[in-house]
Amino acid sequence: MSAIEEMYFLDHGYMFPTETHCAASLKFAQEFAFQDDDVVAVTYPKSGTVWMQEILPLVLNGGDLTPIQTIPNWDRVPWLEEKRLAVVVDQLTSPRALVTHLPYHLMPPSFLKSKAKVINVLRNPKDVMVSSYYFHQMAAFLEDPGTFDEFMEKFLTGKVMFGKWTDHVKSWRHTALGDRIMYITYEDMVQDLPAALRRISDFLGCNLNDETIQKIAEHCSLKSMKANNMSNFSLVPKQYMDATKSPFLRKGVPGDWKNHFTSEQLARFTSVIRKEMEGESFSLPWSL
Ligand code: A3P
Repeated sequence: MSAIEEMYFLDHGYMFPTETHCAASLKFAQEFAFQDDDVVAVTYPKSGTVWMQEILPLVLNGGDLTPIQTIPNWDRVPWLEEKRLAVVVDQLTSPRALVTHLPYHLMPPSFLKSKAKVINVLRNPKDVMVSSYYFHQMAAFLEDPGTFDEFMEKFLTGKVMFGKWTDHVKSWRHTALGDRIMYITYEDMVQDLPAALRRISDFLGCNLNDETIQKIAEHCSLKSMKANNMSNFSLVPKQYMDATKSPFLRKGVPGDWKNHFTSEQLARFTSVIRKEMEGESFSLPWSL
């Protein structure tokens, strides 16, 4: 088996990292019993997942800091498809919050039957790719990204974990979820976090007052999260994630792609993404 084959396995045509996922964890996800008051943040990787792992417990618990100060992000709001869920599932208290990178069609049957709510966070794919490029450098359990050009080809052809960005985004735009799903962008959250938190709180029926929203916004800032050992991945041994190569909470800004793309790369990226998004009518706060 080659090194790459050992790093990932394929299921339903998607690449899953073997360090964090296995056949049993995907089966566990398929059999997971969703409850009506569960909340799931859905993201394509590098779109604000860990941010939602900070936000959701605070919003759902009226600003109580205990969960974010005492439980690592991966256990307080676990990934539906990862190995850790089976370990911590009995410790989750309702309303439970989860995250997932799964496309809509791989969500378990109980999810579709439940009234669980979904918050789908989208991010400019150019910034997603840049963030992912650095993540592949620091995470030893992911393939070395190679040059930026090489990584772009993998990203555009879906030869990365969870496949193509375009497929993921489209899958969550065409659901039967009705008002169970809310869409928000990473860029909206950066631009006005209190307003984003107000939308999330109202969607979840949490009725938080302005003071609590403000308090949550302070604790969810990049600066606060960088200082929170339960959220900054400093608990992960260096052999798995090497922050000296790139911190997990890296820049946290929209538009970093401008520091990385050449004009040729931008043209190539744009033509592929635009073609694949043709016919989609939803609006996004950035041009594709
Ligand atoms: P950058 O690499 O561009 O800095 P995910 O959690 O889905 O893997 O996404 C990680 C990205 O979200 C990283 O982007 C990280 O810095 C950014 N991020 C996490 N928390 C953030 C916050 N509070 N404010 C802004 N960006 C944040």
